[in-house]
Amino acid sequence: MEEEASEQNVTGQQPLHIVTPTVHSTPLSKFAGFQVYLKLENLQIPGSFKIRGIGNLCQKAAKQGCKRVVCASGGNGGLAAAYAARLLNLPATIVLPTTTPDFVAEKLRDQEADVEVHGNVWDESNQYALKLAQDPDCLYVHPFDHPDVWEGHESLVVEAKEQLGSPPDVVVASVGGGGLLSGVLQGMQRVGWGHIPVVAMETEGADCLNVSLRQDTVSTIPAITSVAKCLGALTPCTQVFDLCKKHKVISKLCSDKQAIDACLKYADDHRQLVEPACGASLAAVYSGILNDLQSQGQLGPIKSALIVVCGGSSVTLEALDKWKKEFKL
Ligand SMILES: Cc1ncc(COP(=O)(O)O)c(C=O)c1O
Repeated sequence: MEEEASEQNVTGQQPLHIVTPTVHSTPLSKFAGFQVYLKLENLQIPGSFKIRGIGNLCQKAAKQGCKRVVCASGGNGGLAAAYAARLLNLPATIVLPTTTPDFVAEKLRDQEADVEVHGNVWDESNQYALKLAQDPDCLYVHPFDHPDVWEGHESLVVEAKEQLGSPPDVVVASVGGGGLLSGVLQGMQRVGWGHIPVVAMETEGADCLNVSLRQDTVSTIPAITSVAKCLGALTPCTQVFDLCKKHKVISKLCSDKQAIDACLKYADDHRQLVEPACGASLAAVYSGILNDLQSQGQLGPIKSALIVVCGGSSVTLEALDKWKKEFKL
């Protein structure tokens, strides 16, 4: 059997994601001085939480007669769309910008997707993907801005609530375009965790939510300068901005160096490789960000924290080693 399926979802079918474990981390707890629990989304078959939301979107569309899937993403969204389409027996076209490394195209072809290279940046690839998807039988997969994507991501909180004996005092998640955080916040409302604060982590140079919250309006940043490329949305979705007004969300930034340092420490502590996008959330512990929030009184006393280990496939030992040298770690 390839994977463990979770309970039936709103389509009445088995979801395409697996139930991931929520584990207690002894090394991170020792480091933090409080209990740290990890929701291991890096264990999803396509490598990240993305399959929850994109799987839900594709599955619902398939039920409504969709015949083809198109997505523009050289990252984890594309991988999730290709994987979901394969499981649903639908052809998938994934459009990549020319800057995407060859190994990503190969991973997509391994999922039986057609790979088209078009445009120098994601926006150009996306324009082309939108054109391809004009046919009404075709599903255009947006990587973070769709209600079915948020609904799919909610499931990770529903699982964590069942897996944890008692609710955490704080939840930590990374933010790119805000699809993950929207799903986490919606899930928390759904399971009665609406009162628990969330720390939303971005890296400097991929900080569109932080800028939007500071300017009190959905804002577009001029460019992505962080190494955490998959946090690289220029504009957050309106949904995440609106949810941040209704729920206690503390937006924090870490440097690329802190995100890479967290990836390296996590690799040693837990023997798992994750992308810098995920390192940003782990840096909330390894760089003392949660402890600082606690001592500044922005967070109450923390007895336990839940970190969403969002994962990511675009990481190798070689890449981590290169960053280690570049950031003098
Ligand atoms: C590993 C990983 N973490 C976090 C994110 C951010 O997710 P979102 O764009 O839904 O905020 C992404 C997005 O691609 C990702 O691939």
